[in-house]
Amino acid sequence: MTPAPACRVEELRLYCFRNYADETVALGPGLNVVSGPNAQGKTNLLEAIATAALTRSPRASSSAELLLWGADAAQVTARVRRPDGPTTLELRLQRSGGQDTLVRTLRVDGSPRPARAVLGVCPVVLFWPEDLLLVKGAPEGRRRLVDVVVAQTDARAAAEMVRYRRVLDQRNALLRQVRLGQASPAPLPGFTQELARAAGIVLIARLRLVEALAPLAAAALREISDGREEVGLRYRAEGLEGPLPTTPEEAAARLVVALDGRHAEELARGVTVAGPHRDDVDILLDERPARAAASQGQQRSLVLACKLAEVRHLTALLGMAPVLLLDDVLSELDARRREHLLAALGAGTHLQTVLTTTDPRGRRGRIGSMSLLIRRGGVSAGGSAAAARGGTPPLSR
Ligand SMILES: Nc1ncnc2c1ncn2[C@@H]1O[C@H](COP(=O)(O)OP(=O)(O)OP(=O)(O)O)[C@@H](O)[C@H]1O
Ligand SMILES: [Mg+2]
Repeated sequence: MTPAPACRVEELRLYCFRNYADETVALGPGLNVVSGPNAQGKTNLLEAIATAALTRSPRASSSAELLLWGADAAQVTARVRRPDGPTTLELRLQRSGGQDTLVRTLRVDGSPRPARAVLGVCPVVLFWPEDLLLVKGAPEGRRRLVDVVVAQTDARAAAEMVRYRRVLDQRNALLRQVRLGQASPAPLPGFTQELARAAGIVLIARLRLVEALAPLAAAALREISDGREEVGLRYRAEGLEGPLPTTPEEAAARLVVALDGRHAEELARGVTVAGPHRDDVDILLDERPARAAASQGQQRSLVLACKLAEVRHLTALLGMAPVLLLDDVLSELDARRREHLLAALGAGTHLQTVLTTTDPRGRRGRIGSMSLLIRRGGVSAGGSAAAARGGTPPLSR
């Protein structure tokens, strides 16, 4: 089977982004190893690629964090090569008025575009150290995995996610004020309706994605674990009793009922007690909750299986392999497991992969085709000239 064509980032320009003042980085088509000591800007570089592709940082709680300290504007420009040709993605953040008010401008090939026109142009799969806690960690990590994929494949759901967040904040603020006796609860039903409408669309998009990922993750785990274990993924809609809803309208209506039924609790606590922000994805290993049943090794295999499922789903849906961003996830593995993980992900073969490591061996290019050394927000190429020119050196084994 010939692998699907891959999307890749050829060049990245960072201007006042995190600790990068002004830096241009060329990336090779295969495996790019970004190495350097702690706190030099390795993760920031991956974040910049992810931010340009996803239109917002998957890591920052506020976009203001992305601006170089003291700067009024930041910009990331990614020159991307898709199977159908080159394209340039640009994200600019500009302070305006108050300290934390930022204006975000997105451009594709120089023209201003809305987020929905940018999402999915350069698909990415992220693998951060926190992902290693996917199985046993908080639901937020599992929701994020799902949302990053939904954002890149379903423009409408991506927009509703943003709307949901906004209405949720407003509804929570109102609940808090009502609890303190500072506001009347009269506007609450209006907020509930608006929240539920967005929630229904988000919930069904997530649910369908989890249904699509489940068989892919199961197949991936069989490959990794020699067919001994079965993984199951199941979406859990917190607060909705009975079978999962099948349409956005049904999901919305049932959420309204659920919230109405917990009105007193909401007023007492001053927060919205059910909805997509509380949902979870159950990961099952041989039908049992993996959270309780999986060993360390099994957890790692499960995470990898989920990541592989993500790569394969995006590839199938968008017709091209995503760019793989691996942040420091290899450090705890020995050389053999490292090679195994990269091979399983297809990293450095047909997928462009950007991998960070503090391991100085990465600097010698031992495992990579292109290596970049980061020091205090400065990048120097330490890799082969062929890679820098865009050749395709093989992953050395
Ligand atoms: N907005 C900002 N402006 C300037 N510097 C920043 C900003 N945000 C973060 N930094 C700094 O960037 C530095 C590098 O951060 P980064 O997380 O990329 O390091 P790293 O190379 O991945 O390190 P590690 O190996 O420990 O993961 C940190 O010292 C941090 O304080
Ligand atoms: Mg880091």
